[in-house]
Parts: sequence; structure tokens; C-alpha cells
Amino acid sequence: MEFFVSLGGPAKQRTDCAIVGVYDKGTLSAAAEELDKRIGGRIARLVKRGDLRGKTGDVVLLADLNGPVERVVVVGLGGRNSFKRKQYRKALASALGVVARTGAKDAVSYLGLDGVGDADTYALTRIAVEVGSNSQYRIPDHKTANKRPKPTLTKLGIAVSGRGDRGNAERAIAHGEGIGAGVSLMRDLANQPANVCTPGYLAKAARNLAREHRKISVRVLNEAECRRLQMGSFLSVTRGTQEPAYLIVLEYKGGTRGEAPTALVGKGVTFDTGGISLKPPPAMDEMKFDMSGAASVLGTFKAIATMDLPINVVGVVPACENMPSGLATKPGDIVKSMSGQTIEILNTDAEGRLILCDAITYARRFKPDVVIDIATLTGAIVVSLGNVYSGLFGNDEDLIAALEDAGRRADDRAWRMPIGEEYAEGLKSNFADFANVAGREGGAITAACFLAKFTDGLKWAHLDVAGTAYLSGAQKGSTGRPVPLLVDYLLNK
Ligand code: BES
Ligand code: MN
Ligand code: ZN
Repeated sequence: MEFFVSLGGPAKQRTDCAIVGVYDKGTLSAAAEELDKRIGGRIARLVKRGDLRGKTGDVVLLADLNGPVERVVVVGLGGRNSFKRKQYRKALASALGVVARTGAKDAVSYLGLDGVGDADTYALTRIAVEVGSNSQYRIPDHKTANKRPKPTLTKLGIAVSGRGDRGNAERAIAHGEGIGAGVSLMRDLANQPANVCTPGYLAKAARNLAREHRKISVRVLNEAECRRLQMGSFLSVTRGTQEPAYLIVLEYKGGTRGEAPTALVGKGVTFDTGGISLKPPPAMDEMKFDMSGAASVLGTFKAIATMDLPINVVGVVPACENMPSGLATKPGDIVKSMSGQTIEILNTDAEGRLILCDAITYARRFKPDVVIDIATLTGAIVVSLGNVYSGLFGNDEDLIAALEDAGRRADDRAWRMPIGEEYAEGLKSNFADFANVAGREGGAITAACFLAKFTDGLKWAHLDVAGTAYLSGAQKGSTGRPVPLLVDYLLNK
């Protein structure tokens, strides 16, 4: 979908579909008033008859108009004073859901024209683009019947009030398009089943990015090359599977030559059975999403390349399966990580940290200014924060604060969690430098403490996205998080 800035109200404009809002108690927004003069008071009549009460997200379609405005979608915005980004998102998403069921090829949203409580022109325009892009997202389709037709809506205008706003709105559209493209790529990758999205498939997706974008280059290391680098920890996870593992290394060079890059390290377990510490059957299919960290790194690269950001970024993605077999790593096995530290693997289901630690060590060769790892690392973070906040850990206050801010701006929030010596106690081992698991308590924190053992001298943060990267149940599927957070962080660096 294409997005454009539309200046001012709907009084004189032509569109296949105007989207306007009504607040609760039937108060028309300024744009609805303005439009209503052109269409003979139809909106006021809707309200008067009680057909639209203004509850956030309620929608009525006026389809049988003729003239410069062919259709009007009227959407409830809730109370005027509580109309904020959240309500704006919801109202626009509902409206676009209805627009999609019409034959409209273009539409203009006037929903932000009265102002949105906690959003300026830039924010509300970017949100509109993100919502528009998400509204047209389709899960990679493996259904044989009833193929869904391509969306007819190809252009969405976002109305902003004054000429002075145009620059901000144009910039917001470019950024929103980048984020939208990144989120879609992440969702496409993560939604594929594990028999399609293998480590090799992720490597191919990375190569495709390099082909499409001049500033991205990719190098894919195979298992033999990882062995030469002494990645004993990463390789211990892939031992049980027939599927080849890869270390995928991406570079985006948009900054100056000497500038230290940001390193993004993404967990790429394309299926996590737990290994010999086998998981129980319920919801095990969702472990196809265990490469969401990896997908978020590829999505972020897509976004920053689309936006042509003037920065340097490297991505390191250890990609493998975690399977049981006669060759699989066994509880009690001891491995040597690339850092030289030895690990007693007490639970083969705590495999994410085992692949990430070697990837973090590998990232050191780029002399990054910061390292951020992204992983569906623990069930414990889902218990702690549900699917609202991602868990945010780290060893650098400025980096943590910058990521928290980015999450707030992008509506992709992260909650700061503690780490520390007291929590790391449980990782003690009688046989190796440390174990890969501690007790059940504080599981997301002890996992972060394990990673922290590989971050000496690095500015490092860790996002545990096990609760936020995908949804279960009827809405099952990838959310694209935390691509908006990561891109916002990089935008504001
Ligand atoms: N991929 C899982 C974490 C996970 C669990 C993600 C549920 C999404 C939903 C990870 O590899 C794992 O199995 N973690 C274990 C760690 C435990 C063995 C210390 C867990 O959380 O149970
Ligand atoms: Mn696991
Ligand atoms: Zn896992």
C-alpha cells in the first residue's frame, strides 16, 4: 500500500472513501462536521437515530454516496479527552477493516485531524502507516481452498492540519513504511512452519535482503566453520538434528567507515522440542516461533535499509533446531563456549542461551558500541509480564533507558528487569565453570545472568520476547515485535 499526506479537512477533497470519527455521546469530530455538510447531514442522522454511539472502534459504512466522496466510514473514537494513541490505533484499524470489504481503491483518514492526546503530527502519521501496513498483512498461505483475493485498497491518505506539518508527516510516512516492511518480513518468517522455515531458509532470507539492498551484505558460516571458531556451545544444541545449522552474519553499512556498529544478536531456533529434556505436547507447535529473535533482526535490517538510515549495524543470528536423537546433547554434558568458558548443560531445553553466548562472543570482532540480543528465551518472562511488555535486561543504564524510551515511542514497550550476583548463584556447577540453568525461581532473570557472563567489557542489553513476539489461541501468529522498538532505537541514535 502507498501512503500520502493529505492537507486539511474533507471539504474539498475527492476520495473513494473518507474515514471520519465520532466521539462518545455522538459528538462529531471537526472533520465529520465538515464532511457532513457535503453529504446532506447523513452522519448527524446516524448519531441521532442511535446507529452510532461513538464507542471506540464501532464502525458504520455509508456506501451509497455519489460525488467526489464515494463512501464514508464513520468510526467511534470514545471520549474526546481519552482519545489517545491507543484509541487512535484501534479506531483506524477497525475502520480499515471495513474499508477492506468495499471496492475502494483509495481512502483518506481524517481521524487524527482534531489531534490525538499523546501524539504529535509525526507520531500519529507514523502510527497510521503502521496500522495501514498491518491491516493488509496476510499470513503466508498454505490453505488450498478459498484463496483470499489481493486487497483492492492501494492508497491511504493521512490528513494533517497545516502546511507546517507536511515535512513531519512525510518523514513519518517514510519511517512508518520502513517499520511496516520490517514487521511484515518478521511475521512472514516467524509464521512459516518449521518444516519450511529451517536454518537454511533463514540464511536464504538474509541473502535475499543483501540482494535487494545495496548497503546490506551477508556471510553465512556453516557448522565446520563454527567448529573452527570453537563455538562448542552453539554446536551442542544442533547435535540432535539432521538439519544443518548456520551462523548468519549481516552487515548494514549506512554510516561512516570507522563508526562502531550496533550489534543485534537474534535467537534463531527454528524449532525447539526441548531436546532430550523434551517439552510436553501442549502448544509445542508454537516452538516454531522460537526463531522470532532472528526474524526480528532480519526485519530490523529490512526496515533500516528501506529507510536508508545513516548508521552501521551488524546482525548475528545463530540458527539451528533443538531436537532429541541418538546424537543429541545429554543432561550433564559439558561443552566449551567460544569464550573459553565451560558450561554444564543440565537442561537441554535451556538452549537459547547456549547459542546466544557464542553469537555474542562472535559479535565482539566488529567492536560494536552496543550489543542487543533478542530472544524468545524463557517461559518465565511470560509468567512475569504476559504479552504486554517485553523483558529488558542489561549492564548499561544509558542503553537500557534508550531502549525503554524507544519502546514507549513505538508503542512496543519493554519493562526493565534486574540482574545481579545474587541471582547468578544458582548457576554454580561442581563440574564446569557454570551450569546452563538455575532453579525455577526468577527463570527469566537467571537466563539473563547466564548471558551476562559473556558480556565483559561490552555495553549489552537483552530483550526476552517470549511473551510478546507472537500470540497464542485464536489470534495465533507473529506480532512483529520488537521490530518497532528496535527501529525506533536506531532512528534516534
Ligand atoms: N523457547 C523456550 C522459551 C519459551 C517458552 C518461549 C514458552 C515461548 C514460550 C526456551 O528455549 C526454553 O525452553 N526455556 C526454558 C528454560 C528452562 C528449561 C530453564 C523454559 O522457559 O521453560
Ligand atoms: Mn527450550
Ligand atoms: Zn527455545
